[in-house]
Amino acid sequence: MRITHHPILEFQRGRKVRFTFDGREMEGYEGEPIAAALHAAGVRVLRHSPKLNRPRGFFCAIGNCSSCLMKVDGVPNVRVCVERLREGMQVQTQVGKGDLLESV
Ligand code: FES
Repeated sequence: MRITHHPILEFQRGRKVRFTFDGREMEGYEGEPIAAALHAAGVRVLRHSPKLNRPRGFFCAIGNCSSCLMKVDGVPNVRVCVERLREGMQVQTQVGKGDLLESV
């Protein structure tokens, strides 16, 4: 199922683009939230909680809760429910809190 309407963002479904999720090739539409492209591909777990390692997925979908933090193009703590998809993005499941020094 593809999410086509967002509660706070207007997004145009652009051309089909390729990106990777944990090294796997995937397709989505340019400009849609990364989480929408992942959801359409069947990905429901976006990260694991730092303390108890519990799976986390879409929750608020408006950038408020941090349930969807992922590493995007090497940058940790990206809220993929509001970050728009671009060609060639490298999206990774984030382990733990994410280390900002890692991306420098
Ligand atoms: S799902 Fe809440 S910040 Fe993304």
